[in-house]
Amino acid sequence: MRTIAILGATGSIGSQALDLVRRYPDRFRASCLTASRSSEQLFDLVREFKPDTAALAVEPAALPEDVRSCQWFFGPDATVRALLAARPDDALCAIVGIAGLDAVWNALDVCERVLLANKEALVTGGDLVMAKAAERDIPMLPVDSEHSAIFQCLQARQGNPVRRLLLTASGGALRSWKKADMYAATVRDVLAHPTWNMGGKITVDCASMVNKGLEVIEAHHLFAMPAEKIDVVVHPQSIVHSMVEFEDGAVLAQLGMPDMRGPIGYAMGYPERMPYDARPLDFAAVGHLDFAAPDLDRFPCLGMAIDALKAGGSAPVILNGANEVAVGAFLREQIPFGRIPEIIDAALQAVPVSPITSIADVYAADAAARRAAEAKL
Ligand SMILES: NC(=O)c1ccc[n+]([C@@H]2O[C@H](COP(=O)([O-])OP(=O)(O)OC[C@H]3O[C@@H](n4cnc5c(N)ncnc54)[C@H](OP(=O)(O)O)[C@@H]3O)[C@@H](O)[C@H]2O)c1
Repeated sequence: MRTIAILGATGSIGSQALDLVRRYPDRFRASCLTASRSSEQLFDLVREFKPDTAALAVEPAALPEDVRSCQWFFGPDATVRALLAARPDDALCAIVGIAGLDAVWNALDVCERVLLANKEALVTGGDLVMAKAAERDIPMLPVDSEHSAIFQCLQARQGNPVRRLLLTASGGALRSWKKADMYAATVRDVLAHPTWNMGGKITVDCASMVNKGLEVIEAHHLFAMPAEKIDVVVHPQSIVHSMVEFEDGAVLAQLGMPDMRGPIGYAMGYPERMPYDARPLDFAAVGHLDFAAPDLDRFPCLGMAIDALKAGGSAPVILNGANEVAVGAFLREQIPFGRIPEIIDAALQAVPVSPITSIADVYAADAAARRAAEAKL
Protein backbone atom coordinates (compact mmCIF):
# COMPACT_ATOMS: atom_id res chain seq x y z
CA MET A 1 0.00 0.00 0.00
CA ARG A 2 1.43 3.39 -1.03
CA THR A 3 0.14 6.74 0.10
CA ILE A 4 -0.17 9.27 -2.69
CA ALA A 5 -0.88 13.01 -2.82
CA ILE A 6 -2.99 14.05 -5.77
CA LEU A 7 -2.07 17.70 -6.26
CA GLY A 8 -4.63 19.14 -8.65
CA ALA A 9 -7.16 16.45 -7.70
CA THR A 10 -10.11 18.16 -9.41
CA GLY A 11 -8.39 18.47 -12.81
CA SER A 12 -8.25 16.22 -15.82
CA ILE A 13 -5.10 14.36 -14.72
CA GLY A 14 -6.08 14.36 -11.04
CA SER A 15 -9.53 12.87 -11.75
CA GLN A 16 -8.09 10.11 -13.91
CA ALA A 17 -5.46 9.29 -11.26
CA LEU A 18 -8.26 9.02 -8.70
CA ASP A 19 -10.06 6.58 -11.04
CA LEU A 20 -7.00 4.36 -10.67
CA VAL A 21 -6.92 4.81 -6.88
CA ARG A 22 -10.59 3.75 -6.89
CA ARG A 23 -9.74 0.70 -8.99
CA TYR A 24 -6.81 -0.33 -6.74
CA PRO A 25 -7.89 0.42 -3.15
CA ASP A 26 -5.48 -2.18 -1.78
CA ARG A 27 -2.48 -0.56 -3.52
CA PHE A 28 -3.03 3.20 -3.09
CA ARG A 29 -4.42 5.52 -0.47
CA ALA A 30 -4.94 9.15 -1.49
CA SER A 31 -3.64 10.81 1.68
CA CYS A 32 -3.60 14.40 0.37
CA LEU A 33 -6.00 16.02 -2.10
CA THR A 34 -5.69 19.58 -3.34
CA ALA A 35 -7.36 22.01 -5.73
CA SER A 36 -7.52 25.72 -6.38
CA ARG A 37 -11.15 26.85 -6.19
CA SER A 38 -13.34 23.81 -7.11
CA SER A 39 -14.46 23.45 -3.50
CA GLU A 40 -17.66 21.42 -4.03
CA GLN A 41 -15.79 18.92 -6.19
CA LEU A 42 -12.98 18.64 -3.64
CA PHE A 43 -15.50 18.20 -0.77
CA ASP A 44 -16.98 15.22 -2.66
CA LEU A 45 -13.50 13.74 -3.14
CA VAL A 46 -12.70 14.19 0.55
CA ARG A 47 -15.97 12.42 1.46
CA GLU A 48 -15.05 9.53 -0.83
CA PHE A 49 -11.28 9.15 -0.29
CA LYS A 50 -10.96 10.37 3.33
CA PRO A 51 -7.45 11.84 2.94
CA ASP A 52 -5.35 13.00 5.92
CA THR A 53 -5.02 16.51 4.51
CA ALA A 54 -6.73 18.66 1.89
CA ALA A 55 -6.11 22.12 0.47
CA LEU A 56 -7.81 24.84 -1.52
CA ALA A 57 -5.81 27.80 -2.84
CA VAL A 58 -8.99 29.89 -2.62
CA GLU A 59 -10.72 29.65 0.77
CA PRO A 60 -14.36 28.51 0.44
CA ALA A 61 -17.21 30.42 2.05
CA ALA A 62 -17.85 27.50 4.44
CA LEU A 63 -16.51 24.05 5.25
CA PRO A 64 -19.29 21.42 5.46
CA GLU A 65 -19.40 19.46 8.71
CA ASP A 66 -18.92 16.10 6.97
CA VAL A 67 -15.53 16.98 5.41
CA ARG A 68 -13.91 18.17 8.63
CA SER A 69 -12.41 14.76 9.40
CA CYS A 70 -9.21 15.75 7.58
CA GLN A 71 -6.78 18.61 8.21
CA TRP A 72 -7.58 21.55 5.90
CA PHE A 73 -5.28 24.24 4.50
CA PHE A 74 -6.33 27.37 2.61
CA GLY A 75 -4.50 30.06 0.66
CA PRO A 76 -1.85 30.34 -2.03
CA ASP A 77 0.64 28.10 -0.14
CA ALA A 78 -2.02 25.63 1.05
CA THR A 79 -1.00 22.88 -1.40
CA VAL A 80 2.54 22.79 -0.05
CA ARG A 81 1.40 22.91 3.59
CA ALA A 82 -1.05 20.03 3.01
CA LEU A 83 1.66 18.03 1.24
CA LEU A 84 4.23 18.58 3.98
CA ALA A 85 1.69 17.65 6.67
CA ALA A 86 0.65 14.44 4.87
CA ARG A 87 4.21 13.31 3.92
CA PRO A 88 2.94 10.78 1.34
CA ASP A 89 5.13 8.16 -0.34
CA ASP A 90 4.37 9.60 -3.78
CA ALA A 91 3.20 12.98 -5.08
CA LEU A 92 1.31 13.22 -8.35
CA CYS A 93 2.02 16.81 -9.38
CA ALA A 94 -0.92 17.71 -11.62
CA ILE A 95 -1.42 21.42 -10.97
CA VAL A 96 -1.47 23.44 -14.18
CA GLY A 97 1.12 26.13 -14.84
CA ILE A 98 4.00 27.57 -12.83
CA ALA A 99 1.54 27.56 -9.90
CA GLY A 100 2.64 23.93 -9.47
CA LEU A 101 6.38 24.58 -9.18
CA ASP A 102 6.44 25.00 -5.38
CA ALA A 103 4.59 21.71 -4.96
CA VAL A 104 7.13 19.82 -7.11
CA TRP A 105 10.01 21.51 -5.28
CA ASN A 106 8.62 20.59 -1.84
CA ALA A 107 7.58 17.09 -2.87
CA LEU A 108 11.28 16.41 -3.41
CA ASP A 109 11.77 17.03 0.34
CA VAL A 110 9.16 14.62 1.68
CA CYS A 111 8.26 12.02 -0.97
CA GLU A 112 10.00 8.91 -2.23
CA ARG A 113 8.87 9.53 -5.81
CA VAL A 114 7.51 12.44 -7.83
CA LEU A 115 4.99 11.63 -10.58
CA LEU A 116 5.19 14.64 -12.85
CA ALA A 117 2.34 15.89 -15.05
CA ASN A 118 3.00 19.59 -14.34
CA LYS A 119 5.39 20.21 -17.26
CA GLU A 120 5.55 23.96 -16.52
CA ALA A 121 7.48 23.13 -13.33
CA LEU A 122 10.32 21.75 -15.45
CA VAL A 123 9.97 24.39 -18.17
CA THR A 124 10.54 27.09 -15.54
CA GLY A 125 12.62 25.42 -12.84
CA GLY A 126 13.98 22.40 -14.70
CA ASP A 127 17.70 22.73 -13.91
CA LEU A 128 17.05 23.33 -10.21
CA VAL A 129 14.35 20.66 -9.88
CA MET A 130 16.35 17.97 -11.66
CA ALA A 131 19.50 18.80 -9.65
CA LYS A 132 17.52 18.51 -6.40
CA ALA A 133 15.93 15.22 -7.53
CA ALA A 134 19.38 13.82 -8.42
CA GLU A 135 20.94 15.01 -5.16
CA ARG A 136 18.15 13.37 -3.14
CA ASP A 137 17.93 10.35 -5.44
CA ILE A 138 14.21 10.85 -6.00
CA PRO A 139 12.84 9.35 -9.24
CA MET A 140 10.93 11.82 -11.43
CA LEU A 141 8.38 9.60 -13.16
CA PRO A 142 6.88 11.28 -16.23
CA VAL A 143 3.11 11.39 -16.65
CA ASP A 144 2.97 13.36 -19.91
CA SER A 145 2.18 10.66 -22.49
CA GLU A 146 5.14 11.54 -24.73
CA HIS A 147 7.63 11.49 -21.87
CA SER A 148 6.14 8.33 -20.44
CA ALA A 149 6.57 6.75 -23.89
CA ILE A 150 10.22 7.82 -24.05
CA PHE A 151 10.77 6.64 -20.47
CA GLN A 152 9.28 3.26 -21.40
CA CYS A 153 11.42 2.98 -24.56
CA LEU A 154 14.52 3.88 -22.54
CA GLN A 155 13.98 0.78 -20.38
CA ALA A 156 15.52 -1.11 -23.35
CA ARG A 157 18.53 1.21 -23.51
CA GLN A 158 20.94 -1.13 -21.66
CA GLY A 159 23.55 1.63 -21.34
CA ASN A 160 23.58 2.47 -25.06
CA PRO A 161 23.76 6.12 -26.13
CA VAL A 162 20.62 7.72 -27.56
CA ARG A 163 20.91 9.50 -30.90
CA ARG A 164 17.60 11.32 -30.86
CA LEU A 165 14.26 11.63 -29.08
CA LEU A 166 11.20 11.97 -31.32
CA LEU A 167 8.21 13.63 -29.69
CA THR A 168 4.95 13.05 -31.51
CA ALA A 169 2.34 15.81 -31.69
CA SER A 170 -1.31 15.47 -32.60
CA GLY A 171 -1.19 18.96 -34.13
CA GLY A 172 -4.12 20.10 -31.97
CA ALA A 173 -7.52 21.36 -33.03
CA LEU A 174 -6.17 23.68 -35.75
CA ARG A 175 -3.76 21.20 -37.34
CA SER A 176 -5.22 21.53 -40.82
CA TRP A 177 -6.45 25.13 -40.61
CA LYS A 178 -5.19 27.78 -43.03
CA LYS A 179 -2.88 30.35 -41.47
CA ALA A 180 -5.27 33.19 -42.39
CA ASP A 181 -8.16 31.51 -40.49
CA MET A 182 -6.16 30.62 -37.38
CA TYR A 183 -5.88 34.19 -36.10
CA ALA A 184 -9.60 34.43 -35.35
CA ALA A 185 -10.14 30.83 -34.15
CA THR A 186 -12.64 30.88 -31.28
CA VAL A 187 -12.34 29.29 -27.85
CA ARG A 188 -14.86 26.69 -29.00
CA ASP A 189 -12.76 25.87 -32.11
CA VAL A 190 -9.59 25.60 -30.09
CA LEU A 191 -11.00 23.46 -27.27
CA ALA A 192 -12.24 20.81 -29.75
CA HIS A 193 -9.12 18.63 -29.46
CA PRO A 194 -9.25 15.76 -31.96
CA THR A 195 -7.73 12.96 -29.84
CA TRP A 196 -7.26 13.96 -26.16
CA ASN A 197 -9.72 15.25 -23.56
CA MET A 198 -7.71 17.55 -21.27
CA GLY A 199 -7.84 20.73 -19.17
CA GLY A 200 -8.46 24.08 -20.90
CA LYS A 201 -4.94 25.53 -20.74
CA ILE A 202 -3.16 22.50 -22.22
CA THR A 203 -5.81 22.19 -24.95
CA VAL A 204 -5.15 25.78 -26.04
CA ASP A 205 -1.40 25.07 -25.81
CA CYS A 206 -1.91 22.08 -28.15
CA ALA A 207 -3.71 24.27 -30.69
CA SER A 208 -0.84 26.79 -30.75
CA MET A 209 1.68 23.92 -30.47
CA VAL A 210 3.46 25.77 -27.69
CA ASN A 211 2.60 22.62 -25.75
CA LYS A 212 5.00 20.63 -27.92
CA GLY A 213 7.64 23.27 -27.34
CA LEU A 214 7.08 23.03 -23.57
CA GLU A 215 7.41 19.26 -23.96
CA VAL A 216 10.72 19.60 -25.81
CA ILE A 217 11.98 21.62 -22.82
CA GLU A 218 10.51 19.05 -20.41
CA ALA A 219 12.22 16.21 -22.33
CA HIS A 220 15.51 18.11 -22.28
CA HIS A 221 15.38 18.18 -18.47
CA LEU A 222 13.94 14.72 -17.82
CA PHE A 223 16.29 12.88 -20.17
CA ALA A 224 19.33 15.22 -20.16
CA MET A 225 19.18 15.65 -23.94
CA PRO A 226 20.23 18.83 -25.78
CA ALA A 227 17.62 20.65 -27.88
CA GLU A 228 19.43 19.56 -31.07
CA LYS A 229 18.72 15.90 -30.26
CA ILE A 230 14.98 16.32 -29.73
CA ASP A 231 12.75 16.35 -32.81
CA VAL A 232 9.02 16.88 -33.15
CA VAL A 233 6.92 14.90 -35.61
CA VAL A 234 3.23 15.55 -36.24
CA HIS A 235 1.20 12.36 -35.91
CA PRO A 236 -2.55 13.10 -36.03
CA GLN A 237 -3.77 9.72 -34.75
CA SER A 238 -1.95 10.02 -31.36
CA ILE A 239 -1.26 6.27 -31.40
CA VAL A 240 2.55 6.44 -31.40
CA HIS A 241 3.12 8.30 -28.14
CA SER A 242 6.81 9.06 -28.84
CA MET A 243 10.03 7.38 -29.92
CA VAL A 244 13.73 6.94 -29.17
CA GLU A 245 16.36 6.52 -31.88
CA PHE A 246 19.62 4.73 -31.05
CA GLU A 247 23.04 5.05 -32.70
CA ASP A 248 22.44 2.05 -34.99
CA GLY A 249 19.36 3.76 -36.45
CA ALA A 250 16.93 1.53 -34.56
CA VAL A 251 13.84 3.45 -33.43
CA LEU A 252 11.80 2.19 -30.48
CA ALA A 253 8.26 3.49 -30.12
CA GLN A 254 5.53 3.11 -27.53
CA LEU A 255 2.02 2.76 -28.96
CA GLY A 256 -1.47 2.60 -27.55
CA MET A 257 -4.90 4.16 -27.83
CA PRO A 258 -4.91 7.74 -26.53
CA ASP A 259 -5.96 7.41 -22.86
CA MET A 260 -4.08 9.31 -20.15
CA ARG A 261 -4.81 6.57 -17.62
CA GLY A 262 -2.06 4.60 -19.43
CA PRO A 263 0.83 6.95 -18.59
CA ILE A 264 -0.70 7.98 -15.23
CA GLY A 265 -1.03 4.31 -14.23
CA TYR A 266 2.46 3.49 -15.49
CA ALA A 267 3.93 6.18 -13.23
CA MET A 268 1.75 5.17 -10.27
CA GLY A 269 2.50 1.46 -10.56
CA TYR A 270 6.08 1.70 -11.85
CA PRO A 271 7.77 -0.64 -12.50
CA GLU A 272 4.60 -2.73 -12.59
CA ARG A 273 1.99 -2.25 -15.32
CA MET A 274 -1.46 -2.01 -13.81
CA PRO A 275 -4.34 -3.20 -15.99
CA TYR A 276 -7.29 -0.88 -16.47
CA ASP A 277 -10.11 -0.98 -19.02
CA ALA A 278 -7.81 0.26 -21.81
CA ARG A 279 -9.24 -0.08 -25.30
CA PRO A 280 -7.02 -2.54 -27.19
CA LEU A 281 -5.11 -1.11 -30.14
CA ASP A 282 -6.73 -2.55 -33.26
CA PHE A 283 -4.18 -1.98 -36.04
CA ALA A 284 -6.53 -3.14 -38.78
CA ALA A 285 -9.19 -0.67 -37.64
CA VAL A 286 -6.64 2.17 -37.37
CA GLY A 287 -5.47 1.29 -40.90
CA HIS A 288 -2.64 3.78 -41.24
CA LEU A 289 -0.42 5.98 -39.11
CA ASP A 290 0.54 9.36 -40.59
CA PHE A 291 3.59 11.50 -39.85
CA ALA A 292 4.59 14.98 -41.00
CA ALA A 293 7.08 17.70 -40.15
CA PRO A 294 5.66 20.51 -37.98
CA ASP A 295 4.80 23.74 -39.82
CA LEU A 296 6.69 26.44 -37.91
CA ASP A 297 5.14 29.15 -40.07
CA ARG A 298 1.58 28.35 -38.93
CA PHE A 299 2.73 27.33 -35.43
CA PRO A 300 5.40 29.92 -34.51
CA CYS A 301 5.07 29.19 -30.76
CA LEU A 302 6.78 25.84 -31.25
CA GLY A 303 9.84 27.50 -32.78
CA MET A 304 9.85 30.18 -30.06
CA ALA A 305 9.89 27.53 -27.33
CA ILE A 306 12.76 25.61 -28.92
CA ASP A 307 14.70 28.87 -29.37
CA ALA A 308 14.03 29.72 -25.70
CA LEU A 309 15.49 26.37 -24.67
CA LYS A 310 18.57 27.05 -26.79
CA ALA A 311 18.90 30.58 -25.35
CA GLY A 312 18.85 29.10 -21.83
CA GLY A 313 18.73 31.04 -18.56
CA SER A 314 15.38 32.66 -17.94
CA ALA A 315 14.22 32.50 -21.59
CA PRO A 316 11.92 29.46 -21.07
CA VAL A 317 10.49 31.10 -17.92
CA ILE A 318 9.67 34.26 -19.92
CA LEU A 319 8.07 32.22 -22.69
CA ASN A 320 6.01 30.23 -20.19
CA GLY A 321 4.87 33.26 -18.15
CA ALA A 322 3.83 35.19 -21.26
CA ASN A 323 2.01 32.13 -22.59
CA GLU A 324 0.08 31.68 -19.33
CA VAL A 325 -1.04 35.33 -19.47
CA ALA A 326 -1.98 35.12 -23.16
CA VAL A 327 -3.85 31.80 -22.83
CA GLY A 328 -5.77 33.13 -19.82
CA ALA A 329 -6.79 36.21 -21.82
CA PHE A 330 -7.78 34.07 -24.81
CA LEU A 331 -9.94 31.77 -22.65
CA ARG A 332 -11.65 34.87 -21.20
CA GLU A 333 -12.26 35.94 -24.83
CA GLN A 334 -10.23 39.08 -24.23
CA ILE A 335 -7.87 38.49 -27.18
CA PRO A 336 -8.09 36.52 -30.43
CA PHE A 337 -6.13 33.27 -30.75
CA GLY A 338 -3.63 34.87 -33.12
CA ARG A 339 -2.48 37.30 -30.42
CA ILE A 340 -0.99 34.44 -28.35
CA PRO A 341 2.26 34.14 -30.38
CA GLU A 342 2.46 37.93 -30.69
CA ILE A 343 2.28 38.38 -26.91
CA ILE A 344 4.85 35.66 -26.24
CA ASP A 345 7.18 37.20 -28.81
CA ALA A 346 6.72 40.69 -27.34
CA ALA A 347 7.58 39.44 -23.83
CA LEU A 348 10.66 37.60 -25.12
CA GLN A 349 11.79 40.82 -26.80
CA ALA A 350 11.03 43.03 -23.81
CA VAL A 351 12.46 41.02 -20.90
CA PRO A 352 16.24 40.49 -20.85
CA VAL A 353 17.39 36.89 -20.38
CA SER A 354 19.18 36.37 -17.07
CA PRO A 355 20.75 33.37 -15.32
CA ILE A 356 18.56 31.16 -13.10
CA THR A 357 20.36 30.07 -9.95
CA SER A 358 17.47 29.87 -7.48
CA ILE A 359 13.71 29.42 -7.34
CA ALA A 360 13.51 33.14 -6.48
CA ASP A 361 15.18 33.87 -9.85
CA VAL A 362 12.45 31.80 -11.55
CA TYR A 363 9.66 33.80 -9.90
CA ALA A 364 11.38 37.11 -10.67
CA ALA A 365 11.64 36.22 -14.38
CA ASP A 366 8.05 34.96 -14.38
CA ALA A 367 6.80 38.23 -12.82
CA ALA A 368 8.72 40.29 -15.40
CA ALA A 369 7.31 38.17 -18.24
CA ARG A 370 3.76 38.56 -16.91
CA ARG A 371 4.14 42.34 -16.65
CA ALA A 372 5.45 42.51 -20.23
CA ALA A 373 2.68 40.23 -21.52
CA GLU A 374 -0.09 42.08 -19.67
CA ALA A 375 1.13 45.36 -21.12
CA LYS A 376 0.52 43.91 -24.58
CA LEU A 377 -3.03 42.59 -23.99
N1 LIG B 1 -4.90 16.78 -19.11
C1 LIG B 1 -4.05 15.98 -19.70
O1 LIG B 1 -4.42 15.01 -20.36
C2 LIG B 1 -2.57 16.25 -19.61
C3 LIG B 1 -1.68 15.50 -20.37
C4 LIG B 1 -0.33 15.71 -20.21
C5 LIG B 1 0.14 16.67 -19.33
N2 LIG B 1 -0.74 17.41 -18.62
C6 LIG B 1 -0.23 18.43 -17.70
O2 LIG B 1 -0.77 18.19 -16.41
C7 LIG B 1 -0.99 19.42 -15.72
C8 LIG B 1 -2.47 19.47 -15.32
O3 LIG B 1 -3.25 19.50 -16.50
P1 LIG B 1 -4.83 19.28 -16.47
O4 LIG B 1 -5.24 19.22 -17.89
O5 LIG B 1 -5.16 18.16 -15.55
O6 LIG B 1 -5.30 20.68 -15.85
P2 LIG B 1 -6.74 21.04 -15.27
O7 LIG B 1 -7.76 20.06 -15.72
O8 LIG B 1 -6.94 22.48 -15.57
O9 LIG B 1 -6.54 20.85 -13.69
C9 LIG B 1 -5.63 21.63 -12.97
C10 LIG B 1 -5.69 21.29 -11.50
O10 LIG B 1 -4.80 22.18 -10.80
C11 LIG B 1 -5.55 22.94 -9.83
N3 LIG B 1 -4.98 24.29 -9.81
C12 LIG B 1 -5.04 25.21 -10.80
N4 LIG B 1 -4.41 26.35 -10.43
C13 LIG B 1 -3.97 26.14 -9.15
C14 LIG B 1 -3.30 26.93 -8.19
N5 LIG B 1 -2.95 28.20 -8.46
N6 LIG B 1 -3.00 26.39 -6.98
C15 LIG B 1 -3.37 25.13 -6.70
N7 LIG B 1 -4.03 24.32 -7.55
C16 LIG B 1 -4.32 24.82 -8.77
C17 LIG B 1 -6.98 22.92 -10.34
O11 LIG B 1 -7.90 23.18 -9.31
P3 LIG B 1 -9.37 23.81 -9.64
O12 LIG B 1 -10.18 22.70 -10.24
O13 LIG B 1 -9.88 24.23 -8.33
O14 LIG B 1 -9.14 24.95 -10.59
C18 LIG B 1 -7.07 21.49 -10.86
O15 LIG B 1 -7.24 20.59 -9.80
C19 LIG B 1 -0.59 20.53 -16.70
O16 LIG B 1 0.72 20.94 -16.45
C20 LIG B 1 -0.65 19.85 -18.06
O17 LIG B 1 0.24 20.41 -19.00
C21 LIG B 1 -2.08 17.23 -18.74
